[in-house]
Amino acid sequence: MTTETTEQLHDVRLHVNGAVHEVRVPARRLLSDAIRHDCGLTGTHVGCEHGVCGACTVLVDGAPVRSCLMFAVSAVDAEITTVEGLTEDDGTDRGRLSPVQQAFSDCHGLQCGFCTPGFLTTITAGLRENPEPTEDEAREMIAGNLCRCTGYQNIVKSVLRAAEITAEREEGSA
Ligand code: FES
Ligand code: FES
Repeated sequence: MTTETTEQLHDVRLHVNGAVHEVRVPARRLLSDAIRHDCGLTGTHVGCEHGVCGACTVLVDGAPVRSCLMFAVSAVDAEITTVEGLTEDDGTDRGRLSPVQQAFSDCHGLQCGFCTPGFLTTITAGLRENPEPTEDEAREMIAGNLCRCTGYQNIVKSVLRAAEITAEREEGSA
């Protein structure tokens, strides 16, 4: 005997990286799964699904949020930015790496890269709050994210380098 369960689905409009995604999801659909599977933006990674590792961090109205702890239906009115949305528009098709992305490249801030999207979004928000962090403040900024490759030294360097790049770009455009 088979048991069929029908689950109510909800039409949800998600605003991700400046684009609108119309998705139909059950109320229990995690935002992380909606971003990856319904929107097709697989840059957001899922590690623990318990809010511990930070791999799934996205920006929700500019603030870093564990997307594995939020339901997609709760994000309807929010502006979501994933790692794919960090690149800056420079008039070319590919865009320009954001200061944090560039800094990770300059300072070898990633190894396998699994944790990297969560670090990039977390640091992007952190530097908006504190554009000139000390080394200790840089460590504090990333304290909620886990890297299984344990490349923390270079990630701290990347935070400090990203602050420099941001300042250089701001000076360049002044
Ligand atoms: S997958 Fe969300 S915090 Fe680990
Ligand atoms: S670079 Fe591999 S988990 Fe962080």
